Amino acid sequence: MKKQSIQFNTSSTTFYFDASFDLLEKIVSKDNTVIITDENVYCGSNHKKFKSWKTIVLKAGEEHKIQQTVDLVIDQLIDFGCDRKSFLVGVGGGVVTDITGYVAGVFMRGIQFGFVPTSILAMVDAGIGGKNGIDVGVYKNIVGLIRQPSFLLYDYALLKSLPKTEWVNGFAEIIKHAAIKDAAMFKLLEAHTLNDFKQDAALLNKLIQRNALLKAKVVVEDEFETGDRKLLNFGHTFGHAIENTYQLPHGHAVAVGMVMACMISTSYKNFKDTNRVVGLIKKYGLPVHQSYKAAEVLEVMKADKKKIKDIISYVLLQKIGKAVVQPIEISEVENILTQLENKNPL
Ligand SMILES: NC(=O)c1ccc[n+]([C@@H]2O[C@H](COP(=O)([O-])OP(=O)(O)OC[C@H]3O[C@@H](n4cnc5c(N)ncnc54)[C@H](O)[C@@H]3O)[C@@H](O)[C@H]2O)c1
Ligand SMILES: [Zn+2]
Repeated sequence: MKKQSIQFNTSSTTFYFDASFDLLEKIVSKDNTVIITDENVYCGSNHKKFKSWKTIVLKAGEEHKIQQTVDLVIDQLIDFGCDRKSFLVGVGGGVVTDITGYVAGVFMRGIQFGFVPTSILAMVDAGIGGKNGIDVGVYKNIVGLIRQPSFLLYDYALLKSLPKTEWVNGFAEIIKHAAIKDAAMFKLLEAHTLNDFKQDAALLNKLIQRNALLKAKVVVEDEFETGDRKLLNFGHTFGHAIENTYQLPHGHAVAVGMVMACMISTSYKNFKDTNRVVGLIKKYGLPVHQSYKAAEVLEVMKADKKKIKDIISYVLLQKIGKAVVQPIEISEVENILTQLENKNPL
């Protein structure tokens, strides 16, 4: 087990890497802690771990990341007799960690919380950075707050029951991190396969740690997203637009979005390695192309909460491991999307 604390603006988060779920009872007291998890994580091989903990089991899935679920959780916290000293622990993927962080932020005007992430995505992305929130209608994460968890506990044994598709989705964010900030990790990913990481716990631990700390460091330097944190949106501008329009899994949409950003980087930044990015994305079982209609995608991009007036902050690559933010006029984005509409990088 490796313990590492990261100091954010107003609070610090302790990371327990390569730890065991059993460590939880040493970090928090069972008496005043409530675990929030979902039915998929709760069932199966993990079931015994929850014994003797007060546990709230949510229905699984993004469609439950809504206010109604928050209300249900709060009702149960009241039933459990929770107060300002109570502690919430989210054990699950990004949906569970987002809801847990949000409930902890508003219950009794804010109580302490921590995470035991159980999906690759939650381990390297969703659990880190303090953004917590819920969806309202078609608007994802439109209500929420920024507040850091006290700890993240990484027990890789929990990944045994994670479906293969979710492993693949999580690796989209890992490839993103490598592309924007870590050329050596990009090479490491090129040298291995997904199965290598699934089968070799030490290798997986190295990768997860590197990604978690990479994201944490970006957030520390820019907790309120005025600078470098924007780079984490690589692949997400186009990605979000096609995710909603064509009902793609998030990781797939981001993968296609990264390829799109690479192609734009070629003309704006003289980026020369689109083929390597395409190769790596394919190697990890993610798609590199999605047919789309420029007009449809543009409609969603125009509504993006990250757009300011008519300018989109597009994250582009100068080279592998070095990303920059490029402001592009929406009319220019329209031209680009129309030009690339039928271009398949396969
Ligand atoms: N807060 C942030 O900064 C941030 C960043 C990225 C993503 N997110 C959010 O994270 C969510 C996506 O996260 P996700 O992909 O982990 O989604 P998720 O929580 O829906 O998990 C994906 C699926 O895997 C299941 N699952 C998770 N762990 C499992 C395990 N160990 N065994 C068996 N099944 C398991 C879940 O029940 C679910 O069906 C989205 O809501 C997104 O908005 C938040
Ligand atoms: Zn993402």
